[in-house]
Amino acid sequence: MWQAKQIIQNGRLMPWDEARLHPLSVAVAYACCVFEGMRAYRHPETSKLSVFRMEEHLDRLEQGIKIMRLHPAPTRAQLREDVLRVLHANEPDDDAYLRLMVYIEAMGSMASTGPVGWTAAAVPRERSEKFRTGFAVGVSSWARIADNASPPRVKATANYHAGRLATLQAKADGYDNAIILTAVGKVSELPGACLFLLRGGKLVTPGVTSDILESVTRDTLIVLATELGFAVEQRQVDRTELYCAEEVFLCGTGQELVPIISVDRLPVGEGKPGPVALRLQQRYESVVRGTTPDHAEWRTPV
Ligand SMILES: Cc1ncc(COP(=O)(O)O)c(C=O)c1O
Repeated sequence: MWQAKQIIQNGRLMPWDEARLHPLSVAVAYACCVFEGMRAYRHPETSKLSVFRMEEHLDRLEQGIKIMRLHPAPTRAQLREDVLRVLHANEPDDDAYLRLMVYIEAMGSMASTGPVGWTAAAVPRERSEKFRTGFAVGVSSWARIADNASPPRVKATANYHAGRLATLQAKADGYDNAIILTAVGKVSELPGACLFLLRGGKLVTPGVTSDILESVTRDTLIVLATELGFAVEQRQVDRTELYCAEEVFLCGTGQELVPIISVDRLPVGEGKPGPVALRLQQRYESVVRGTTPDHAEWRTPV
């Protein structure tokens, strides 16, 4: 497994261990930091690396920068350049996971909007060993954050407390992962992933007003599933629909697509990864790696 050697801070490439952020910065004190997680995938034959849906990730980052009123922020051209440069600099011989973080780097107050600093990093990230066999999940007693308190469509570090608490609770209760409900008890998402169900042969996913992060992978799967002929509904989802679904699976850049084989210890369908999740997993894999010419617009060559 390769190791990260270099990192970029404020446009400057430096050895990994030299990256710095002051503990009294607004980024640390008030969690004023928006970020992105992207993946660069290697083609199995040519070994060429490409970043998957970089522009859509940068769109979401810029949306977060706007909502958080960070100013002046790095330009789109700078962020794009840093992502590609940090990948080149680390020479990964396998897939890479990218982190792009934009934050207030100095001490300040609740009213601070700058000075804005940013970091681009590339690290190795292995697939979960349960990628093929699936996760057992429990519905958490922690609730999802709401748009009028800590807007979930901003990928902000401040938004991860409930997800972390739900993950710790799930592990203590013997589950692989947690499903988090909104404050009014509807299904939202998992700590770092969105969710799909198969009900009556149709795919269903909580809508963008169900306090989800507007996931790039969710959008990718809506497009790919529709192309494969599935109807996809975006709507409110009840907790008990999880128990009645033929299939449930999670999706996200980090975890990719993982089948969910039980919820609250009730088996989903036959209690094993379902055919639709496995088919979409395969299709996703071919699109992200470019073993199909389809959706070349989603792959930025490194
Ligand atoms: C809270 C949360 N929800 C959903 C997702 C999935 O989003 P994406 O598919 O854009 O990675 C992530 C991962 O980044 C996340 O952190």
